[in-house]
Amino acid sequence: MARHLITSALPYINGIKHLGTLVGSQLPADLYARYLRGRGHEVLFLCATDEHGTPAEIAAAKAGQPDADYCAEMHAVQEELARGFGLSFDHFGRSSGPQNRRLTQHFAARLAEAGLIREVSERQMYSHADGRFLPDRYIEGTCPNCGFPEARGDQCDNCTKQLDPVDLIDPHSTISGSTDLEMRETKHLYLRQSAMKDALNDWIDRQESWPVLTTSIAKKWLNDGEGLQDRGITRDLNWGVPVQKGDEPWPGMEGKVFYVWFDAPIEYIAAAQEWVDAGKGDDWERWWRTDKGAEDVRYTQFMGKDNVPFHTLGFPVTLLGSGEPWKLVDYIKSFNYLTYDGGQFSTSRGRGVFMDAALEILPADTWRWWLLSHAPESSDSEFTWENFQAGVNKDLADVLGNFVSRITKFCRSKFGETVPEGGAWGPAEEALAEEIEGRLRAYEAQMEAMEVRKASAELRALWVAGNEYLQGAAPWATFKEDPERAAMQVRLGLNLVRLYAVISAPFIPFTAAVLTEALGTDGAAWPGAAREALTALTGGEAFTVPENLFAKITDEEREGWAARFAGKG
Ligand code: MF3
Ligand code: ZN
Repeated sequence: MARHLITSALPYINGIKHLGTLVGSQLPADLYARYLRGRGHEVLFLCATDEHGTPAEIAAAKAGQPDADYCAEMHAVQEELARGFGLSFDHFGRSSGPQNRRLTQHFAARLAEAGLIREVSERQMYSHADGRFLPDRYIEGTCPNCGFPEARGDQCDNCTKQLDPVDLIDPHSTISGSTDLEMRETKHLYLRQSAMKDALNDWIDRQESWPVLTTSIAKKWLNDGEGLQDRGITRDLNWGVPVQKGDEPWPGMEGKVFYVWFDAPIEYIAAAQEWVDAGKGDDWERWWRTDKGAEDVRYTQFMGKDNVPFHTLGFPVTLLGSGEPWKLVDYIKSFNYLTYDGGQFSTSRGRGVFMDAALEILPADTWRWWLLSHAPESSDSEFTWENFQAGVNKDLADVLGNFVSRITKFCRSKFGETVPEGGAWGPAEEALAEEIEGRLRAYEAQMEAMEVRKASAELRALWVAGNEYLQGAAPWATFKEDPERAAMQVRLGLNLVRLYAVISAPFIPFTAAVLTEALGTDGAAWPGAAREALTALTGGEAFTVPENLFAKITDEEREGWAARFAGKG
């Protein structure tokens, strides 16, 4: 028994996420959380919506809603979708909540006291029509270098030249289109990350083996080129955590908010406070403060590779720099990207499958299985409808679904809906138990290592082993000469179903629940020795036949969906 804190990168509030985002953090985090709970560990699994920043403001404006209303609505939508996908968060919080505001202001105060924050005066583009300073990506104009008319304030996408907004010819706001812009003096807070460089290097070197993807990204930003840069942690926006030193005002910072990447990871802690405040837990410090018991916690974070610098550098600077005993991450599992049919998912072009549409067309487990068994671990992976159809039809319908259906239906027809008694194992059963034993332990090892694809391959192999046993044992043939032996074979088959329900639950929890319900094996523990697990049902137990576990995806469906999700070109 150990205690595991697990967090998934917080999805941005602006809009429904696509399947690539899902498989890059929330889904594998859920897989791990469910596995560890299944093994009897104490788990706190947290996620939240990341609600601040310019994109959130812009999305709210587009929707014609006040920021707070827009975020509340989208949070509810995302929470519902998370439930639909079976994401088993202990709490799904909100970075715009009072807990995160207080904590963020607290950290800023501590960092200031530690001398890790400096004030910087900058000149920034102010838009009179929009009544706000414009971040670089909301200013466009003609590139002074190549004449490209849509160069952004920070860079020209045509000739790649790095720009300053002042360099642009005829700059305008991309929000309102207004050209009534002016450079104004404004003051911002910078986090002195550079001062923490050695502490960070030490901390990273002290870690157990992190995945190469994680460490290489962290080290690159830490030591390459100019090294770790100080980072602006405030913005001239309306929506965000107001800049304060704890409860005190911060002179000169009136009307400013913290940068979204400063407050978002702090929400990992605030979500635990929300969890307590919602009455779901009674002690968050036990998970987050090493002076209050969290030194025993193993903390694992899941995220896409673009998030790694913020979690290996930015957030640790906040925690270490505070000088307080906060729990730091022990292991970062990061992912590459899932591409969609030879390109990118695109919100604006409606390209690819998004979480809401996915659940409209197929059950959550279908997506969970395919996505996890194709998780972009060692490289990017690609979603294609052919590959999706093949994976689902083969693994779920032909292997697992077919096995469950055949064994339960055959039993019903010959022995009724009761696990049959009698008969003794022969060499085929002993051999199967031995194979299952080896594969079970291999499956556990891959799950412990968070090797998602390899774990899925082991689970598939466990399903295949059952199928092959049933094919060879052929109780429908045995029954004619030796009904006792057929009873034993069928009983073993039903025990396999019981075993599959337990071990498949992290990947396909909804199906696992159906199997558990059908067998009446609620509360079955994670299997120890395979021999015991395969003899748990001894005969006499009632069961029902689960109907239509998985429907096959037809070619017509596949073609229809491919066309529907192709996007607007
Ligand atoms: N919203 C960010 C993204 O989707 C992730 C934020 S993770 C956190 O890329 F650490 F900041 F919370
Ligand atoms: Zn250019």
